Amino acid sequence: MFSLYEDFVRRLLFLVDPEKIHEYALHALSLASSLPFVSGKAQGSPLRREVFGLSFPNPVGLAAGFDKNGIAIPALAALGFGSVEIGTVTAVAQPGNPKPRMFRVPESEAIINRLGFNNRGAAAMAERLQMLRPSRQWPAIPVGINIGKSRIVPLENAVEDYLKSLRLLREHGDYFVLNVSSPNTPGLRSLQDPAALGPLCATLRRELALKPLLLKIAPDLTWKEVDDILATAESNGISGIIATNTTIDHSKVPISRRTQGGLSGTPLRDRSYEILKYIKTRSRFPVISVGGIMHVTDALARFDAGADLIQLYTGFIYRGPGFIRQICRALRERR
Ligand SMILES: Cc1cc2nc3c(=O)[nH]c(=O)nc-3n(C[C@H](O)[C@H](O)[C@H](O)COP(=O)(O)O)c2cc1C
Repeated sequence: MFSLYEDFVRRLLFLVDPEKIHEYALHALSLASSLPFVSGKAQGSPLRREVFGLSFPNPVGLAAGFDKNGIAIPALAALGFGSVEIGTVTAVAQPGNPKPRMFRVPESEAIINRLGFNNRGAAAMAERLQMLRPSRQWPAIPVGINIGKSRIVPLENAVEDYLKSLRLLREHGDYFVLNVSSPNTPGLRSLQDPAALGPLCATLRRELALKPLLLKIAPDLTWKEVDDILATAESNGISGIIATNTTIDHSKVPISRRTQGGLSGTPLRDRSYEILKYIKTRSRFPVISVGGIMHVTDALARFDAGADLIQLYTGFIYRGPGFIRQICRALRERR
């Protein structure tokens, strides 16, 4: 069946360098966000869900990394997302890794990225959100803020670095995510070790008071490591788990396409699904399932496996904005 997005728009978009087209698209969404009619109207929705104390008009969210600086929140809400997670933001503004650092693998319906948390820093984000929050442009959907470690800060000072971002941003987000799972910041994933994770979660939890604090984990963990993370998260007041980030396992993409970075999209689907099922059998945590949701059937399978919410990134790129509504329609038809 002909799809306007996949057969026409995507073909054109994919002619351009992936990071460039991302910048153009985000810029357009950012401009659209300042239009008076692009605002977050509250909608009564049969898909509404209450998760970790927040109300989501639908369970399909935008994953972190798309709007790293939080410049296009109203337009992203207007596309139909039930939540938007902005970031990853770091305390220190940073340029990220040298370009090129984002690659499409169309034959695998995948993306490989090694952006390395390019962002304008937590203070700049706080300033922007401070103006947007009280305005009519602020959407009626939860906005999460995903926080990472600044590259120049040594791992042993990670807690203070996360804390700095959290203090600047805590008034502005509806929920917060501790990103300890990106493969593109050296050593970051070692913060998933209980000895480092415990103090990090405990400190940020205290600082945040009642707002939800989530942990985003990698797909490349052993079951024992997942168990340890769940136990540490439980004893340190974590509100939910986001599973998963991109994978460093490139075995499912052609050898010629492999390059350093985190892999997302179809090759991540099965692992992300497995981890969701595992967490659901081993804990009572709410889970936001993300990774390789490329078809409506993938989304439905996540909810069947107990996902409380889902997020899209690569599926949004490959299927287009209509994908959000397709998933929502399928969910409504199933009720
Ligand atoms: C280009 C790109 C940039 C990303 N940047 C971030 C990021 O800054 N922080 C983060 O937590 N995840 C980031 N991610 C990971 C996504 O949020 C998501 O966890 C992952 O891509 C798996 O979902 P998907 O298969 O639907 O893309 C990024 C993914 C991509 C493709």
